[in-house]
Amino acid sequence: MSPQPVRTRGWLDIAPVYSLIQNLLGAKAVRRRFLDDYVRPVPGERVLDLGCGPGDIVGLLPAVHYVGLDLSPRYVRAARRRYGSHGRFQQADVRTLAGEELGRFDVILSVGVMHHLGDDEASQMAAAAAGLLAPGGRFVTLDPGRSPEAPRAAGWLLARDRGHMIRTADGYRRLAAPHFGSVNSQVHHDLARVPYTHVVLICSEPTLP
Ligand SMILES: C[S@@+](CC[C@H](N)C(=O)[O-])C[C@H]1O[C@@H](n2cnc3c(N)ncnc32)[C@H](O)[C@@H]1O
Repeated sequence: MSPQPVRTRGWLDIAPVYSLIQNLLGAKAVRRRFLDDYVRPVPGERVLDLGCGPGDIVGLLPAVHYVGLDLSPRYVRAARRRYGSHGRFQQADVRTLAGEELGRFDVILSVGVMHHLGDDEASQMAAAAAGLLAPGGRFVTLDPGRSPEAPRAAGWLLARDRGHMIRTADGYRRLAAPHFGSVNSQVHHDLARVPYTHVVLICSEPTLP
């Protein structure tokens, strides 16, 4: 079955508008904490960013070898304009990565992407990430989450998200679990400047077929 189209929302597909809204919501601080607390990138590592958008995370990374992939040609063009000297950006569908000549990576990131994908597609992305990791590598994801402890006001923002597959921590974890020996999840209600719940997955020890 061919992958379903990804839901878009007009003006948010314009890269500077997307980045502006993200900054207003405090996304820079969210990415900073995600990197510092969970990803801990080390200079010289090879980093693959699945669904990199306009590349907003690149300015927060140390001197790594960075490759960003995104479905949106507009975002890829914007990322190349802004960060082309810091890494390589390529249009690709993370649901169908098998066969891409990408090499192996110490760190694979996916920030705000899993909640755009149906279960089979998200599981395919996790499987592809498992296959692209170098020995000892990690796949780390960050997405909006559902939780009984979520601040009430978070529901208003989540309902407006372009992604229609916002899950609980367990919901995300069970999609990655078949592809990794170790999958840890962490739920945060305090990463953003606005009331919001995030789920982080930290996956390692790929279990390859
Ligand atoms: C919420 S944005 C996050 C962008 C970026 N990671 C960030 O943190 O700003 C979700 C991104 O996932 C990308 N995306 C969604 N489905 C995708 C797919 N199947 N393949 C590649 N990229 C995809 C979208 O184009 C968009 O850039």
